[in-house]
Amino acid sequence: VGAGGAVLALTECGVGNARPAAVPALPPFSVPLRIPPVARPDRQDATTDYYRVRMAETQAEVYPGLQTKVLTYNGQFPAATIVAKRGRRAVVTQYNGTSRPTAVHLHGAHLPRKDDGHPMDLVEAGQERVYEYPNTQPGATLWYHDHAHHTEAEQVYRGLAGLYVLDDEAEHDLGLPDGEYDVPLMLRDAQFDPAGQLVFVLAGFAGRQTLLVNGRPQPYFEVAARKYRFRLLNCSNDRTFRLRLSDNRPFQLIGSDSGLLPAPVTVTDFDLSPGERVEAVVDFAPYEIGAQVTLTNDLAEVESAKSVMRFDIARTAADHSRVPPTLRPLPDLGEATVERHILMRVNLGATISSLLDDKVYDPNRIDQRVKLGTTEIWTITNTDVQAGIPHNMHLHLEQFQVLDRDGKPVTGHETGLKDTVLVPAGGNVRIKVRFTDHPGLFVYHCHMLDHSALGMMGQMEIT
Ligand code: C2O
Ligand code: CU
Repeated sequence: VGAGGAVLALTECGVGNARPAAVPALPPFSVPLRIPPVARPDRQDATTDYYRVRMAETQAEVYPGLQTKVLTYNGQFPAATIVAKRGRRAVVTQYNGTSRPTAVHLHGAHLPRKDDGHPMDLVEAGQERVYEYPNTQPGATLWYHDHAHHTEAEQVYRGLAGLYVLDDEAEHDLGLPDGEYDVPLMLRDAQFDPAGQLVFVLAGFAGRQTLLVNGRPQPYFEVAARKYRFRLLNCSNDRTFRLRLSDNRPFQLIGSDSGLLPAPVTVTDFDLSPGERVEAVVDFAPYEIGAQVTLTNDLAEVESAKSVMRFDIARTAADHSRVPPTLRPLPDLGEATVERHILMRVNLGATISSLLDDKVYDPNRIDQRVKLGTTEIWTITNTDVQAGIPHNMHLHLEQFQVLDRDGKPVTGHETGLKDTVLVPAGGNVRIKVRFTDHPGLFVYHCHMLDHSALGMMGQMEIT
């Protein structure tokens, strides 16, 4: 795409980037929801689960009867969910069977630099790398995805993404919906050509008007008339969702990026930007059997992309689950002694780039020097008011508390600890973060992956 096209795409005007001749025409709610399989360890010992994963280009049935070329972990699109247990290590050997370098980042995890999946810790084609995950942090819905320098946007888009559920004993007594009533929903957009192949255009946001849930277009899901715990991940490159039930029925948010909130919050909608996770409890008990309710995205630019998926209330079921009034207290992050300011903006010049503090990411540059044991406040400002481009901010290594946005305290899922936070056009967000352990060089970046691939990333050296 020429720079002009990219600009249009980034500014979301979509004029030069209209929806292409539709993908295999498929009315919404034609295919059932698929639940990603749970990954099986290759072996286990007293302390550790060992997994072997092969990254490769394979095919997946996204549209019924069509094979779509995708990049996969162990052939699954989306990838299998790794279910780890808090206090038990997981060791994942990743073999790169693709033709390009990869790097596997465990998003939201607190772990040493060598296992972080830093963009320069590449796994070359034909090579493998062993990632050791300590799983010492509290229970949370994490995810793993590609992070190869410059190519992460395309490689995640083509399929290198999966959930990593860190299961925490301490949660088991709370009585939240579990088992088949604990359901992951990976939400994303994509652009397909008429043959059902993925089209990737860097910064081609406006062309991506097909919504996928767990790798299938606008599926339906037959549910029982009872409570469900949904773990939602937005694994889109650039799209932010504002999610709501079509009848405006309230539901409860119980978790965010780092796991359980201090207390459940009842809402009718919430925003989910790329990389963020939310856990929500939806109670279908008030619906009649045979009723249907749609999950909608109020931020959709086109009518056909307003519906994300449909819940079909199909049967009754016993429900002994509950949502207790308190869940998990926030840790005290201490007094902040350091303040930093981060500026996010897109450079719409002859060559387009996305900038942090007016610089393009340079893996050989250190942007922030951080001392272990300190608590800091970062003020993150998005000055792309005119172009109307939203950004978000993701920190590797540590979860943070969101103090406020535009001076107002945050609500909903943002009351929990987070690793990714939306920074709307013209907005500013203050976060508080404590660097506890694990020295080394870690990145922070906009998680709109086309932006990070265009340079919106910096590095902090923690000593
Ligand atoms: Cu989910 Cu640095 O990324
Ligand atoms: Cu951005």
